[in-house]
Amino acid sequence: MSTESASLKNYNTFALPVNTAHLVIAEQIEMMIKAWQKAQKRQEPFLVLGEGSNMLFLENFAGTVVINELKGIEIREEQDAWYLHVGAGENWHHLVKHTIECGIPGLENLALIPGLVGSAPIQNIGAYGMELRQVCEYVDLLNLTTGEIDRMDPQRCEFGYRESVFKHEFKQGFAIVGVGFRLSKQWCPQLNYGELSKLDPQTVTPQQVYDAVCATRRTKLPDPRVMGNAGSFFKNPQVSGDVANELLTQYPSMPHYPQSDGQVKLAAGWLIDQCSLKGYQIGGAAVHRQQALVLVNTGNASSQDLVALARHVRNTVASKFDIWLEPEVRFIAATGEVDAIEVLS
Ligand code: FAD
Ligand code: EPU
Repeated sequence: MSTESASLKNYNTFALPVNTAHLVIAEQIEMMIKAWQKAQKRQEPFLVLGEGSNMLFLENFAGTVVINELKGIEIREEQDAWYLHVGAGENWHHLVKHTIECGIPGLENLALIPGLVGSAPIQNIGAYGMELRQVCEYVDLLNLTTGEIDRMDPQRCEFGYRESVFKHEFKQGFAIVGVGFRLSKQWCPQLNYGELSKLDPQTVTPQQVYDAVCATRRTKLPDPRVMGNAGSFFKNPQVSGDVANELLTQYPSMPHYPQSDGQVKLAAGWLIDQCSLKGYQIGGAAVHRQQALVLVNTGNASSQDLVALARHVRNTVASKFDIWLEPEVRFIAATGEVDAIEVLS
């Protein structure tokens, strides 16, 4: 289906009232390729969109937005594991729920993350002590110009913390069309994160981990259907061991997570909270009262309100801690993605 000048309000979880010049709902790969060719011919910008749960549209989009609706979940059981091939347009949480219902463990820690399966590898989604890369077997990447599909193994995906090659080398002219998963039969519950550590690793079931993750998320994170948001607005910053130690002498209770490379990850939400910014509001945009890392649309925020608020949060944290937060959310202008740090500087 193809529509001229369509609203994207229902296609971005901030619920910003922006439009796109053309909207294509792609149920088949051929539709994506056709939309790309047409946009190339018109020399217009092109954007593949999932559920818009990690996006901040700065203004109307002056080109074609393709909504990915490539469906299908295939499950193959082998002796050691279940192997899944999933269409990029499947909803991520539905996949998690479906596997748990089928008695297939392994995705439970990643329950309730909004968005589509095809978007999940792009920032290597992670939560509650787990990341997508631990279960990803391959990513099927479509070259929109040649029509070829390249099956990429995890090494080639260059997964990192909220990072992958899909944010860089394969950003333009490519679309993820399917993702493969390997869910081992040797299930090992991941219970390191806060509330989950109360569960008994000897007796706990995947369903119980799934329920605990869902319950925790519901208490902390606002439901975008009720209040517009895009989850964590900023990434958790990584600093050197020396910087972390210096801060710890001043703030002994500061949450900190030593990494294998000697760096220390800090909690951006804690840093923002320490600046007493919870509830701080500019226009219709506010810092969430339960989780300072989430910026919300209280009802009628404009893109400019959100940018002004993000800039204020970033500057305030920098003047108190000398740490510059980097947005996790992708900033989209009329002709495509722009550098979020430049926008906020
Ligand atoms: P979109 O926002 O639509 O797109 C994201 C980017 O991927 C865009 O640049 C888009 O152009 C590109 N893209 C999308 N689909 C394709 C494709 N098929 N091929 C190529 N490029 C594509 N994230 C976490 O990691 N952990 C969390 O715990 C978490 N919690 C969240 C909680 C809430 C309440 C919200 C609103 C968000 C949360 N997020 C979290 C962020 C978000 O859910 C993820 O980034 C998710 O993977 C985005 O999926 P999406 O389909 O909405 O992608
Ligand atoms: N904290 C505060 N005040 C706040 C928020 C957090 O003091 O307002 C403290 C918490 O008490 C805790 C620490 O900061 O000690 C970390 O907070 P939390 O466990 O809530 O996690 P987070 O670091 O804020 C990250 C991810 C989330 C993911 C959760 C759970 C990033 C940027 N965010 O949040 O992912 O769901 O951990 O694993 O890494 C997302 O990416 O959109 C997202 C929601």
